[in-house]
Amino acid sequence: MANEKLRAAEFEGTPKRHFYTGRRVTRARSIEDLRARAHKLMPRFVLEYLEGGSGQEATLRREREAFAEWRVMPHTLVDESNRDCSADILGRKAALPLAIAPTGLNGIFRRHGDIALAKAAAQGGVPFIQSTMSNDPMERVARIPGLRHWWQLYVFGPDEIWQELVARADKAGCEALVLTTDAQIFGQRQWDKRGRTEIGLPRIPNLLNAASHVRWLATTLSGGLPQFSNVRDFVPKDRRSFFDTANWIREQMPRSLSWGDVEKIRQRWKKPLFLKGLINLDDVERALGSGADGIILGTHGGRQADWSVSALDILPRAREIVGDDKALYMSGGIRWGSDIIKARTLGADVVLSGRAMLYGLCAYGTDGVSRALEILEAEVLNEMGQYGVPNLQSLSRDLLVPTRDLPLTEKA
Ligand SMILES: Cc1cc2nc3c(=O)[nH]c(=O)nc-3n(C[C@H](O)[C@H](O)[C@H](O)COP(=O)(O)O)c2cc1C
Repeated sequence: MANEKLRAAEFEGTPKRHFYTGRRVTRARSIEDLRARAHKLMPRFVLEYLEGGSGQEATLRREREAFAEWRVMPHTLVDESNRDCSADILGRKAALPLAIAPTGLNGIFRRHGDIALAKAAAQGGVPFIQSTMSNDPMERVARIPGLRHWWQLYVFGPDEIWQELVARADKAGCEALVLTTDAQIFGQRQWDKRGRTEIGLPRIPNLLNAASHVRWLATTLSGGLPQFSNVRDFVPKDRRSFFDTANWIREQMPRSLSWGDVEKIRQRWKKPLFLKGLINLDDVERALGSGADGIILGTHGGRQADWSVSALDILPRAREIVGDDKALYMSGGIRWGSDIIKARTLGADVVLSGRAMLYGLCAYGTDGVSRALEILEAEVLNEMGQYGVPNLQSLSRDLLVPTRDLPLTEKA
């Protein structure tokens, strides 16, 4: 987050602000503390994978800038004694309008990272979306008590593969299917690639750097490299090394994935179906007749198309198009409670959070993810109090003003 505009107000002189990076999870006060500790503990190649965007990282930057372009005009003299930030997600109450986003290779952040994320989601009362490229078997994740378990589908190889994954997700009790549509051609993540060999192995300086991160070695690699448990059997035996499996799967992703495939998947999957990675308003309109139950706007965390608009940028227009007919979610750039409030106000039913949760995972495992959820929930509740909004239903557009309209000179 190099952009100065986005930094906490840090005026010339003292005191110099520092983040907490120590061992006591309860002392982490913001997602930025968790991030700072993740940066302290993770080796370089892991951080490149976690933080990197594609190309010039213009999309990645936009994800945060877009939030900074909205200011709040708080209401006052509103009864704030009983604030409530719970939300309806697929007809059931969730603690927050948030789901943990699907992220692949979680085992490289922490051994059994998927299980850690899922446990924290179950404890925190929000859904967990497990990635096709996850490391823990979906059936094991599904056994976590109280979990709202969703499955994210990447289409690769022949149709039988997605058909089998969808059948397994159904049998494991997954509540919803999220079809990712924006990654059939892998993004140009140069920072990540620069540090790796052709088959994806970290280069020697990165291996040495990893070897010097003893706490990461202990918490992550003590049982050896993680496996892509859910897809490994589809991969040819000579391509099953940890680093090569991901390459092989990317090679097998059909570049021709289309609305016709959405229809085919819709026919097989009877529970709620979401399309993830839409960022063009024509596509949003097209999705209305696709049979999908919901749309997740987003840019894959700035990791695919460069120079893209962010989900927040198109949210109000997307909501106008979708109306109340379908669920409209967004992903990208959520780091603060105020981000969630802005996204809800601009039209999102639910936000997906990727890196904020992963910072917690890298920093303290399950406890860190729980802390990330607690922090966001506490921030939303506090900020709702500051903004004069007792519950999410009371959010209305007059709360927000785009910075380009400031100072307000004309009657709106
Ligand atoms: C490390 C990492 C791995 C990801 N892996 C996947 C994935 O396997 N499937 C998917 O649909 N999206 C994936 N994404 C995108 C996230 O689901 C989500 O859209 C994005 O992280 C949101 O932005 P945020 O990180 O700013 O919250 C990944 C993102 C990150 C940071």
